[in-house]
Amino acid sequence: MTSLKTRRIAVLPDAVADQIAAGEVVERPASVVKELVENSLDAGATHVRVEIENGGKTLIRVADDGSGMQRDDAILALDRHATSKLSTAADLVGIATFGFRGEALPAIASVARLTLSTSDEDGAGSEITVNGGRMERVEPVARQRGTTVTVRQLFYNTPARRKFLRSSSSETRACHEAVATLALAHPAVTFEFHADQVLRLHAPATADPSERIRSVWGRELADTLVPVAHALGAFRITGLIQRPADARPTGRRTQLFVNGRPFRDNFLVRAAEAGYRSAIHPGDRPSMLLNLEVRAEDVDVNVHPAKLEVRFRDRIGLERTVEEAVRHALGDLVASAMIGDSAPVPAMPAFLPPATQGEDPTGILGLFQDAESPADAPASDTRADQVPVLQVFDTYILYAGEDGVVIVDQHSAHERVLYEEAMRQLTGMPATAQHLLVPATLELTDEELDAVETHREALEATGFDVAPFGGRTVVLTAVPSPHPRFDAIACFRETVADLARGRFGGWANRLERYAATYACRAAVKAGDRLSEREVRELLTRLFQTDLPPHDVHGRSTIVQLPREELERRFGRR
Ligand SMILES: Nc1ncnc2c1ncn2[C@@H]1O[C@H](COP(=O)(O)OP(=O)(O)OP(=O)(O)O)[C@@H](O)[C@H]1O
Ligand SMILES: [Mg+2]
Repeated sequence: MTSLKTRRIAVLPDAVADQIAAGEVVERPASVVKELVENSLDAGATHVRVEIENGGKTLIRVADDGSGMQRDDAILALDRHATSKLSTAADLVGIATFGFRGEALPAIASVARLTLSTSDEDGAGSEITVNGGRMERVEPVARQRGTTVTVRQLFYNTPARRKFLRSSSSETRACHEAVATLALAHPAVTFEFHADQVLRLHAPATADPSERIRSVWGRELADTLVPVAHALGAFRITGLIQRPADARPTGRRTQLFVNGRPFRDNFLVRAAEAGYRSAIHPGDRPSMLLNLEVRAEDVDVNVHPAKLEVRFRDRIGLERTVEEAVRHALGDLVASAMIGDSAPVPAMPAFLPPATQGEDPTGILGLFQDAESPADAPASDTRADQVPVLQVFDTYILYAGEDGVVIVDQHSAHERVLYEEAMRQLTGMPATAQHLLVPATLELTDEELDAVETHREALEATGFDVAPFGGRTVVLTAVPSPHPRFDAIACFRETVADLARGRFGGWANRLERYAATYACRAAVKAGDRLSEREVRELLTRLFQTDLPPHDVHGRSTIVQLPREELERRFGRR
């Protein structure tokens, strides 16, 4: 944001004022905090201190060391549509300041007791007190250059709006969030946020945006982020996104900026999530901070009263670019999913005699055929050159690859295999279903019935034959059998429940969503003990999947400990 050097405030001509959407600027304490901090930033402040009490209901104070105002300008600033930032409607295109309507201060002043203390040079300043929109006092004060706005008893004269305020703690959270967002946009400005005399956020000025993310989001989350940088046509996307393996279903943070201005846009967040494809566990919500740079004329920032939303001329193109940006960034991620810095794709070891591959192209019956047999395939069954494999903690599979020790997460690997298998089944190679001797009847909720209706074709393609049985009951007459440990009824129930709850809503495409849900529920779990033969089959199938085997799915599917790393650690290098 550029600050404004000229302090000449002009009242906007009516025509311009009308072209600017007026609206509910002040909805809750956090909106006051947002407007005041934006003004401070527009004024070129290098230090912004925000203080609230009782969630901002009794006190909000924003103090800055910005340009300040002269007495007459300060009086004018409290008038409707007095702004120093814009004088014709054409200036709205590509506006670089947060403020442009000249509306915030008067709007706040009309619903609270407001004191504006300001000075454009150290020493002499003015203090103006406004009460419910009525100017009460203008006095000279001694103060440093900068501005302090104090807002007390918000909505004291509008009880209806006061009633809508939430608890102090939830209003405090919203205020914190408002400061955090602006702090992320301005690493070069020092921010302090105090709530009820406790310092909640301290972000010292820095030239390094990732340092700012650490102060605002916390080191733990910040350390799970990797950089994004991608340009396509008139769009440029930079920022940080969470490593797939660190994404979780809850607690994520997202922040979007367009040309430095924070805004909200769930569709763009979805587009970014789509860029993860199957690299994240369905249902996981990665954190992200994305800066979009678009041509000024391609974005309209004046479509929302609190400027929280913006409108793009080429939304589809932008969504596609965001998705691609994420995909590109994750492509580079291979290295960071590995231990150590060199991260070659593990060489495909001889997990199984080649003869057993390809016999069961549908993959329905082959995997884990021997699961029930307690004795593993005897050594004579396996080729002499087979790499030894080891299952540890009933969760990971270890073997020596050409360049290091390879560690595979069994659930993640199996999910990867079943996901691709389900996608093939959904796109034209339906699974062979196993008919149940005794059909199973299941009672579902209304939402689950809807989900069955919506996904009936997908269910059938993967081998579930399901028919209504009156009321909320359905009957399952055939089920898939991807491996002998498979519990078809449980898998059906869980898959349908997930679909009904929209748990996998992050998936852009209905088939992918279904395949991911099914794969997640059908795969072997961490904690399942596998026979050696099962382990080998799983690895063989994993290495046949389309995605490179070192790709990550949910938690990383494969982690490699490079040989050089071992040698370094043991002092052999
Ligand atoms: N902290 C500040 N330091 C210096 N000048 C300020 C400060 N806050 C407000 N002003 C001046 O007061 C004017 C009115 O502020 P106000 O927030 O009402 O309108 P705006 O920022 O121009 O537009 P918007 O309503 O879109 O925020 C500003 O244009 C600016 O000149
Ligand atoms: Mg403003």
